[in-house]
Amino acid sequence: MTLKSEIENILNQARKDISSCKNLSDLENLKVKFLGRKSRFSELLKRIGKLSSEERPIIGKLLNKSKSEIENIIEKRRNSFENTVNNSEHTFDITMPGRPIEIGAKHPVFQVWEEIEDIFISMGFEIAEGPEIENEYNNFDALNTPEWHPARNLQDTLYLKNGMLLRTHTSPVQIRVMKNFKPPIKIISPGRCYRNDKPDASHLPVFHQFEALVVDVGITFADLKSTLDSFVKRFFGEKIRSRFRPHFFPFTEPSAEIDMLCINCHGKGCKLCKNSGWLEMGGAGMVDPAVLENVKFDSEKYTGFAFGLGIDRITMLRYGISDIRTLFKNDLRFLKQFV
Ligand code: DAH
Repeated sequence: MTLKSEIENILNQARKDISSCKNLSDLENLKVKFLGRKSRFSELLKRIGKLSSEERPIIGKLLNKSKSEIENIIEKRRNSFENTVNNSEHTFDITMPGRPIEIGAKHPVFQVWEEIEDIFISMGFEIAEGPEIENEYNNFDALNTPEWHPARNLQDTLYLKNGMLLRTHTSPVQIRVMKNFKPPIKIISPGRCYRNDKPDASHLPVFHQFEALVVDVGITFADLKSTLDSFVKRFFGEKIRSRFRPHFFPFTEPSAEIDMLCINCHGKGCKLCKNSGWLEMGGAGMVDPAVLENVKFDSEKYTGFAFGLGIDRITMLRYGISDIRTLFKNDLRFLKQFV
């Protein structure tokens, strides 16, 4: 083999190897193999002085040309590797640690909601649900709340089309349950309610209540009182008891407002209870016979009690929150306290 064809062979081999090599470190090895100090090229370059005067310029030129071609194709290959590596770094670097996934948690109001359900389930209650879009009949008429009652005013109630409205309380679920089931009835019904209220520290147009309804033969006011007392003790502690103040609700007779002993001062009087020693919790009473008759229950045979309490209010008391709006701002710094 002549020197010329040997150089051409080496050049061809280099072209092939370099174009098929797979990564930068293989490329470095090829550079050493073809151009390094111990390569055939270096050897030939060293021996150039020993060639005949005719051969020397021809072979010398060929060697130099081939060497710079190999250098060029190595450089091009290197660039192509570096570009792909850079591109892939932007989109996918398998060595980067993953972004931590933040795990969500139940909202404090919903945690309290579930705790309330558990307490009442343990007392033999079932959970009933009703729709947030309700008709006027269930929300008002069936509950003995006549057309002229101030609660039916546009200022308090958010009306929709066709006699529908956003329920203003969970009490219409009483009607739905009694229309569909016979006594004995023993349910609570937690849910979202709506009123045309301006937001302030104790009101929001959207809020949460739960309703309790018990109807059977021989249900008395004492059952109402003991059920409420048991709940308050289970939820807030043994020392907390409830009391009633006479009141009026169209759907109960007699009716009462429910207070519980202040969880902060236990009756002594403090800022939380505005020095009264008691905290207002909601309304209660014996189901008005007119309501029982509206759902075709025999009011001579059956009696019942009902009450409605605010879940947001109970949550605020449990955690010492003074402004209801903080519950629903969705500020994660606040909500993370309840994880
Ligand atoms: N529905 C009343 C309200 O939202 C609360 C209420 C009072 C519910 C007395 C009752 C009850 O079941 O007996 O203001």
